[in-house]
Amino acid sequence: MNGRRAAVAGLAAAFVTVAPGAAQADGAKLYATHCSVCHQAGGAGLAGVYPRLAGRGPDLARKPAGRRLMVSAGLYGMAGRLEVDGKPIMGVMPGFAQLPDAEVAEVLSYVAGLGGKPAPPFKPAEVAAVRASGRLSPTAVNALARAAPGR
Ligand code: HEC
Repeated sequence: MNGRRAAVAGLAAAFVTVAPGAAQADGAKLYATHCSVCHQAGGAGLAGVYPRLAGRGPDLARKPAGRRLMVSAGLYGMAGRLEVDGKPIMGVMPGFAQLPDAEVAEVLSYVAGLGGKPAPPFKPAEVAAVRASGRLSPTAVNALARAAPGR
């Protein structure tokens, strides 16, 4: 690595470790890597295909049932019929159970801050608790979403 690249990498590492919004910065990166291909930049979604997360993420993350749904969808994915913004979606989302609890928490914290008033961030322990309560099928996660408040 040449000196300039090393310096830039060092700066980036310093930013990630000391910046107050570090978790959000990581969450944004994780979102761009794993989620935005479907849910689109900023959680805009795609009407009738991929649910909008902007506004919906914070709404869900303010209630225990919604938080549980978000962690379950993040870990195990989701499949089935949904209605979002008055349009039916018959979707399949992959799960991300291969990611460590901390990364699932970071990306969901980012989603919880998309649009509107940000909801409290997710803690790795919250993800661990859902993981420990047993694996759900993507269809079972869809049932949680249909039961979640606000849809
Ligand atoms: C391959 C496309 C795809 C990817 C990648 C994807 N999702 Fe999804 N997501 C979907 C679809 C489709 C649904 C709705 C599934 C259904 O119809 O049951 C969904 C549903 C959700 C929901 C529930 C929304 C609601 O209104 O109930 C959340 C939360 C969510 N995704 C978050 C994420 C996060 C966070 C990531 C990245 C870690 C991610 N998704 C990656 C396609 C995707």
